[in-house]
Amino acid sequence: MNILLGVTGGIAAYKSLELVRLFVKAGHDVQVVMTSGAKEFIQPLSFQALSGHPVRDSLFDANQEAGMGHIELARWPDVIVIAPASAETLAKLRMGRADDLLTTLCLATDRPILLAPAMNRLMWQNAATQENLEMLANRGFEIMKPGSGEQACGEVGEGRLPEPADIFSATESLVASLQPDPAWQILPEFWKGKHLLITAGPTFEDIDPVRFIGNKSSGKMGYAIAEAAAQAGAEVTLITGPVALKVSETIRKVSVRSAQQMFESVQENYASCDVFISAAAVADYRISKPKLQKIKKTDGQDDLTLNLVKNPDIVKWVAEQTPKPYVVGFAAETEKLETYAQDKLKRKNLDMICANSVSGGKGFEQDDNALLLLTESRQKNLLRAPKTRLAKSLLVFIAESISETE
Ligand code: C5P
Repeated sequence: MNILLGVTGGIAAYKSLELVRLFVKAGHDVQVVMTSGAKEFIQPLSFQALSGHPVRDSLFDANQEAGMGHIELARWPDVIVIAPASAETLAKLRMGRADDLLTTLCLATDRPILLAPAMNRLMWQNAATQENLEMLANRGFEIMKPGSGEQACGEVGEGRLPEPADIFSATESLVASLQPDPAWQILPEFWKGKHLLITAGPTFEDIDPVRFIGNKSSGKMGYAIAEAAAQAGAEVTLITGPVALKVSETIRKVSVRSAQQMFESVQENYASCDVFISAAAVADYRISKPKLQKIKKTDGQDDLTLNLVKNPDIVKWVAEQTPKPYVVGFAAETEKLETYAQDKLKRKNLDMICANSVSGGKGFEQDDNALLLLTESRQKNLLRAPKTRLAKSLLVFIAESISETE
């Protein structure tokens, strides 16, 4: 694989030498681009010796034919990795500036870009940096979390460059996540014209006008399934609890808040769907009588009891209907994953269940996950991968399972 490594100004730049060594050892071809700041910390010759290519640092290179070296270089890599990524470079990338070779390449490329930030802890925490990172993440940059600990400046905190071995693995998984699952190629034929109904995200159960009971669901899994299904040519309706995710315009999105509202929306939409995927983390209970006014704390009253009543089990209800769509549920378990998932598959009369382990907070609010897929007759382990990739593998498994029973 061709890796373009951008090195920006920071004391951590020396660690990127080790990163080049790891890439080269794994058989990758590496070209290094340094900013002028980076050259203050480390000699280009060191990178040249390890990568076997002269370091590129100039936007205007008379040796490049047609003087268009940056465009030709932008097309060369399979992935761009910037390590360390300084606060200054993050700010420039966020603004779309192109005043040096590295930022110009990032503007002129359509390849994935991995950022491994490193800076002083206060620079890292600064709202400007955090806002830049958020914007870059929304634009599709892959951003690693810096390490925490003693910093070169003598302070202690977050902002250390992630270990070269971790940047190496993050690069490999980023590239792997972009490779299509071979089975994905056959899918569009299967999904074209099929209607998928998907629930996603948490539900919020109001206590009073300002408080609610919720859960940790980010909605990322359900949204990833919706996007993948739409990409495969399906007609998708996404019923979503409150989350801050965006969705493509081709997806019909219905926003709800409570389990009761989600249930009503599913009742309105299920009849026309071929497959129902229940990825939402529906609250099992709601407040029996939410207060119309804010509950005041009363002096001398140390306990407050909330009376909860059970919410409808939406996925179970859909599975009880005749005719019914192909019904896929999720099971988040902290222990005995397969046993509990098998039990849920039968008890809710589902066609398929996707079990994931949530022990120690795994699975929630994260970009990747691992799933165990179960039907009555089939089973498949999907190893830890980005949810976007899992979504595709899940759609492949559903398509195969439906085709088998038809
Ligand atoms: O019973 P449990 O909540 O573990 O089951 C999880 C599955 O059931 C998920 O697919 C979830 O979306 C669905 N569910 C539901 N309605 C509920 C509770 C869970 O559809 N009230």
